[in-house]
Amino acid sequence: MERLGCLVCRKEFDLNVHSPFCPECAEPLIVVSKKKVRKFHLDRNLAVEVFEDYLPLDKIDPHFSLQEGDTPIIELHRLRKDFGLPPTFAKNECLNPTASFKDRGSVVAVQKAVSLGFKSIGTISTGNMAGSTAAYAAKAGLKSVIFVKEDTTNEKIMAAGVYGPVLVKVRGDYGVLFRASFEIGRRQGIYFMNSVDPFRIEGYKATAFEIFLQMESRAPDYVIVPVSAGGHIIGLIKGFLELKEDGYLPHLPAFIGVQAKGCSPIARAFERKKPTFSRFPNPRTVAHAISNPNPPGGNLVLKLIRETGGAMIAVSDAELLKAQRLLADREGLFCDPASATVLAALLKLKKGGKLGPRSTSVLVITGSGLKTVEDLSSDSIDYHEAAVGDLETLMADIF
Ligand SMILES: Cc1ncc(COP(=O)(O)O)c(C=O)c1O
Ligand SMILES: [Zn+2]
Repeated sequence: MERLGCLVCRKEFDLNVHSPFCPECAEPLIVVSKKKVRKFHLDRNLAVEVFEDYLPLDKIDPHFSLQEGDTPIIELHRLRKDFGLPPTFAKNECLNPTASFKDRGSVVAVQKAVSLGFKSIGTISTGNMAGSTAAYAAKAGLKSVIFVKEDTTNEKIMAAGVYGPVLVKVRGDYGVLFRASFEIGRRQGIYFMNSVDPFRIEGYKATAFEIFLQMESRAPDYVIVPVSAGGHIIGLIKGFLELKEDGYLPHLPAFIGVQAKGCSPIARAFERKKPTFSRFPNPRTVAHAISNPNPPGGNLVLKLIRETGGAMIAVSDAELLKAQRLLADREGLFCDPASATVLAALLKLKKGGKLGPRSTSVLVITGSGLKTVEDLSSDSIDYHEAAVGDLETLMADIF
């Protein structure tokens, strides 16, 4: 039986996928690694195969993969010049099969579900995780059920619905729904792999390993990540911690978690030096993918960020929308508003004199702008109209 551990009270528990939280501290439980000798298998094809020794799977079945991971890291040299930045790179997770980092978690959690004998899986999501979970369920031949909030846009519902899950628009509080999903899963035999699922978190470690390999076997000084429920950044930190444990790294990068000011429960607790966060009242931000007023991994993120010398930062909608346009029109990278928070945070650090001249940053770009085109304000993008016969004159004027 797999063991899960609590990083707060250090106790271990047998795996129960319907209750992946510490019975004493209520914090998310994480996988306790059993493999003592681990190495990267760089001659293999899939990311899950390359990092197999670090994953809690008895064996990798390539049929469950959609070729996620192995995403590029791109130097942002034009923004670097514009803003006088030290070396800055983007790890582009938009290039995953369903256009977000969630696929790295889904591929591991779905294989785990199959190995545990589940025929049905589920998740609750406002967008990216819905599409990712439904796609990997389809690939594995599992039934899936997706609960979405009642205000989820039609575009997002279709982007998940196309994979054939049972989709339910749910009225009511998202936090209540989060807990209810586990209970429904327990009674109906559905593995709800939600945002801080311990096997999703294991999948996110691969991003840390790839960053390490792509930076020539070194860690950057800063890894900057958008944070909502907390699962992604917990996985990234765990990945770097395991590299350190195995002697690959002398020290860890500083992790900067970024939230939108209009929904920033973890950043607010960090600023106020509180040990735990409290629910954020009246969340309001255009960065819908990271708008969670009551993040289930929030306290664990606070603890890990503090222990590793990082910080939580909040940026305004104006700052993140400006950063989104900068990434697109200076670097050719169109990400969603949630991802753009990381550039806004870097520019904030630079402005505050907090970046050393030689410190290297990796911005983790978590989701594609193509899924959130409706969030671009139309007055920020100019276009002209002309009859074909008038084009010559118009071009002479405007180009
Ligand atoms: C694009 C994007 N970025 C970041 C996040 C935050 O990830 P987490 O909830 O694991 O903190 C999400 C979560 O849905 C997301 O969709
Ligand atoms: Zn505990």
